[in-house]
Amino acid sequence: MFPTVLTCAHCGQQNPDGAKFCNACATPFAAPGHMGEERRIVSVLFVDMVGSTARAERLDPEDVRAYLDAYFASVRVEIERFGGTVEKFIGDAVMGVFGAPTAHGDDAERAVRAAFAVRDWAEQDELEVRIAVNTGEAIVALEAQPGRGEAMVAGDVVNTAARLQSSAPVGAVLVGEETYATTRTTIEYRPAQPVLAKGKSAPVRAWLALRPTSGIGERPVAPVPMIGRERELETLAGIWERVASDERAHFVTVFGPAGIGKSRLGLELSQLVAGQGGRVVRGRSTPYGQSTPYSAFGQQVKQVAGIFDNDDPVEARARLVSGIAQVTGPAAAEEHAPHLATLLGLGGDGDEADRETLLFSARVFVESLALDGPTMLLYEDIHWADESLLDLLHTLAARIRDVPVLLVALARPELLAERPGWGGGLPAYTALQLEPLTGTASHNLAAALLAESGLADDRAELITETAEGNPLFIEELSAAIAENSTAEVLPTSIREIIAARLDSLPTEERSVLVDASVVGRIFWRGALLEIAPRNDLATLLGSLEARDLIRREAVSRLRGDQQFGFKHGLIHEVAYQRLPRVARRERHAAVARYLSETTGDVGQTNEALAHHWTEAGQPERAVDCLLVAADQAARGWAKGHAVTLYSTALKLMAEDDPRRREVRLRQVVTAEALMHLAQGDVERPGGEG
Ligand SMILES: Nc1ncnc2c1ncn2[C@@H]1O[C@H](COP(=O)(O)OP(=O)(O)OP(=O)(O)O)[C@@H](O)[C@H]1O
Ligand SMILES: [Mg+2]
Repeated sequence: MFPTVLTCAHCGQQNPDGAKFCNACATPFAAPGHMGEERRIVSVLFVDMVGSTARAERLDPEDVRAYLDAYFASVRVEIERFGGTVEKFIGDAVMGVFGAPTAHGDDAERAVRAAFAVRDWAEQDELEVRIAVNTGEAIVALEAQPGRGEAMVAGDVVNTAARLQSSAPVGAVLVGEETYATTRTTIEYRPAQPVLAKGKSAPVRAWLALRPTSGIGERPVAPVPMIGRERELETLAGIWERVASDERAHFVTVFGPAGIGKSRLGLELSQLVAGQGGRVVRGRSTPYGQSTPYSAFGQQVKQVAGIFDNDDPVEARARLVSGIAQVTGPAAAEEHAPHLATLLGLGGDGDEADRETLLFSARVFVESLALDGPTMLLYEDIHWADESLLDLLHTLAARIRDVPVLLVALARPELLAERPGWGGGLPAYTALQLEPLTGTASHNLAAALLAESGLADDRAELITETAEGNPLFIEELSAAIAENSTAEVLPTSIREIIAARLDSLPTEERSVLVDASVVGRIFWRGALLEIAPRNDLATLLGSLEARDLIRREAVSRLRGDQQFGFKHGLIHEVAYQRLPRVARRERHAAVARYLSETTGDVGQTNEALAHHWTEAGQPERAVDCLLVAADQAARGWAKGHAVTLYSTALKLMAEDDPRRREVRLRQVVTAEALMHLAQGDVERPGGEG
């Protein structure tokens, strides 16, 4: 074999394999095997025009070119509008990718919604298309530039998407199993004939996507009662009571990550307020799709005035004036309705009011509503709101005082990244942080959901352990179990959400987190340095800690090295799943090297070492470690554990390994000792059992 060498891309110097910096110019070499590739869950959208060749035959080449250009441009616009990327054009087919290079947390749904948009647009233009969406794991070249013809994603998910597309009925959207499973709560489906695909033993299951069943960024309410948020609801109910009885305005922002239960709590509060005769008006911000400035506020004004989005502008303006008059009285309506019309984007030409005037009219509107009766204004998902709405909310909260209005905003924590001072300086403000559900509440929720699907609650504990107190994850895990009782893999919907959290990190932080995931739920600074040298590692770790993703532990198992832990097992798991196999192996080998250098003689980490050598693709070394660990366990009277370790070693050993006989013998002896222990024949010397 040739000795491998690394050639420095900067100066051309040849360096020995494994070098981390160039010997001549000190340029750092890229982390082993990384190359900007990741395994990711992506949703692939294929659109193809039907019968375009026939049509082309009848047309002048220039006309063909013109309509094809228009078609490609429109498909591109729709894909990008929903947050996807156009990967390539193949003949008349267009391939779009959602979930890479950036995951949004709901990429499968975005892909299906983009498919609907293309379908509807094609129908209008009398174009015949076949469309398919398929979701699954792919290998993604993050630095690829599809615009230059470089492929970004590869994997079976792409081929299957293409296959589904060619089987899709004309004018319809066909999706694969993962897409269906991930989006079934927000999209209506009908089962379709399974599709035969080349190279696949079983036909591919398929569904026809019919229509969305909820608004963008919204999810239907779960079928079980709210569990374990009594205290939070009580707090909010108390605030409402004061607002209503003392006629004092108050502003609340409920914070929490995706799926933790903000909307649900908002809904329960709305019902409570409505039950007490209060008025509730809701507005929401959306992650994509059409959005106008002040959108959530505009929705509220429209609801009060009885205006629908498809009313024609003249009619809408008339309704606005009469609707506002009912709230503010005719004189004030005359003054403020034109400004509110501008805020809603209904303004005619010539209405030019400065920002202060607009904000003042908004304030008068809200105050008048509240004077008419205690009112709660709910603003969902303000982390997606534009600047104008956030400014408006802050202004309303700062200026409205002695009227019974409760402003409630719901936000994911990323709002604070954009607006660190959110809520600061307001006269009556409460920030409510939604924490994960407790173990008991999680268990009860899981059991209730399983019961809803007619299942026993014996899996509730497993769900509780995995979901980390997130009700949405509990729902998704319960649904996965209900659909396929062997489901041990993380549902795609959960992976999508966690992936989006990872992607919101700066690249460097993310890559540290991914490297750390190889070390384990617990990791050490030194191990990270062994994987890849980084000058700014301390800063990066500090930043990850500040983002509440990892935690520096007070006590380290390795002398002289800092120990950290992942705060969330799910982040750890999803980060690890991102690594391609080769990169995984190289990193495991680095960790194993590090552990044996630092702890080699002590022998405390043999099991961990065995794990890393196995995953590094070096079973011989793993066997050595396992045997030491097994002997140790046997001596320490952890007989059961020792038996397991011996059998793992036997599984990894080569058939002709001369140690096999000896190891099997030791395993048998240990197993016998275990049996005697269990029967109480042997006195156990104080050790663990
Ligand atoms: N305490 C709870 N008891 C029972 N179900 C709950 C509870 N909290 C939330 N859920 C359910 O879990 C799911 C996710 O909750 P919800 O939609 O309120 O999350 P969210 O915090 O608003 O997330 P996002 O940031 O994505 O909007 C919903 O189906 C909701 O009905
Ligand atoms: Mg919500």
